[in-house]
Amino acid sequence: MPADFFNDITVQPHTDSSLACKYFDGKAWQVSRSGKTVSVMSPADASLVGTLQIVTHEEIDEALLKAKKAQIAWEHTPLHARVKIVHLASDWIRQFEEYLTALLMREVGKTHDDAKSEILRTADLMDYFADEAQSIKGETLDSDNFPGFDKGRIALIERAAQGVVLCIAPFNYPINLAASKIAPALLMGNAVVFKPPTQGGIIGVHLTQAFVKAGVPEGVISCLTGGGAEIGEYLVSHPMVDMVAFTGSSETGVAIASKAPMKPLLFECGGNNPSIVLPDADMMLTAREIVKGSFSYAGQRCTAIKYVLATPEVMEKVIPTVEKTMDELIHEGDSRSPETKMVGPVVSEKVAQEIVDVIEEARIQGGVVLRGGTRKGAVVSATLLSNVTPSMRVVSCEIFGPVLSFVTVKDTAEAVSIINGSTYGLQASVFTKDEGTGLVVAGTLNTGTVQINGSPQRGPDHFPFLGIKHSGVGVQGVRYSLEAMSRLRPIVINKPS
Ligand code: G3P
Repeated sequence: MPADFFNDITVQPHTDSSLACKYFDGKAWQVSRSGKTVSVMSPADASLVGTLQIVTHEEIDEALLKAKKAQIAWEHTPLHARVKIVHLASDWIRQFEEYLTALLMREVGKTHDDAKSEILRTADLMDYFADEAQSIKGETLDSDNFPGFDKGRIALIERAAQGVVLCIAPFNYPINLAASKIAPALLMGNAVVFKPPTQGGIIGVHLTQAFVKAGVPEGVISCLTGGGAEIGEYLVSHPMVDMVAFTGSSETGVAIASKAPMKPLLFECGGNNPSIVLPDADMMLTAREIVKGSFSYAGQRCTAIKYVLATPEVMEKVIPTVEKTMDELIHEGDSRSPETKMVGPVVSEKVAQEIVDVIEEARIQGGVVLRGGTRKGAVVSATLLSNVTPSMRVVSCEIFGPVLSFVTVKDTAEAVSIINGSTYGLQASVFTKDEGTGLVVAGTLNTGTVQINGSPQRGPDHFPFLGIKHSGVGVQGVRYSLEAMSRLRPIVINKPS
């Protein structure tokens, strides 16, 4: 029963409809000495999902000290034992899939399908990490390859843990993007200090319990909750943190990077992912990918398509096909209603209003609202804007909502130049029936990944996932994350002559 498994994590019995969560100090679930909590309200119906402890700086110091001490023994724990623990944690997630799906729907307003797929994807990802960790290995190098050296040395290059990894997850995939950091960090022998988002913190607390119950030893994982303002800066600049893994906005990423100088960083930040539609594109496929890419999970994905670039003749075909596809695919409204497929609420009413304000700003600047542009509570109607220019905020900033802009260009070269001029560089799509042309255009684009005839996306999760410019630092994806969560340790044997 979920109630038995999760009973330790709440102050009241876990069966209550709102969950008063504790934080995990590395050893036990605790109520913070601050006496302060933060409330988490559901974007779906504004009900109280629960509360999170706001930990004190002293409690952060205590958890980090435990982590520092425990990390060395954990790194020396045989890999097969660490692998077993991560597999067991993923088994627990599968075991409680239904309960966790319902919690995720309520806490971040995902539709049932989106929530369920995040839970199952998380379990699959953790299993894949655990399997892949077994093939991460060091190497040896001989010295005589380099001019001037004989065979007098050999380098044994091991993979060592980074130490204590601070894992900061965002609200949009609060369990998946937490596990995508915690699992590789643990597998590579690091201790983890997990800072969940506030919205999404309740599921984060549940995820931590899955690792604790799976047997992660004392001190090796902690879950420290509280708002970014109260604990964020203290955590990222803490001298006992050896590495920061973060997903969130570019603004926050830049701020964290400045407070964690000379530390390894693994960041996935914002994106304003464009799609170039070439004249020979399959319009039906293109429109379907654009609609899915723009509006699934109400556009709250770093990889969501935010603008489409095409020449005037192509635009004349793209816009009506996208509109027709929207009529077929999108059912707007309350995320709890079974017919809602793609567009549920955004994270809060406040954010919904900010999105509507940016749309209005674009309209005043000459953009044409073809549909949408309004909100009801936290639900922003799926919005299409034409006549948009790259300097308008709907394109130049990351709008975390269901808004798609059309930017007309004179040719492909202009489209490429607009994309490459952006401060973001996560992903881009090129739609064309000629994959050769697609490859050529892809080769000119400064983004982490280019998709040909598909919408931007992270998955499959073993593919490399990276952003350049303000969209990220380092590379994620199963093997790449495992490598990032470890460092090379060359040990050179100088042979007696
Ligand atoms: O941070 C990545 C996330 O926002 C997008 O993931 O799987 O929806 O492409 P995905």
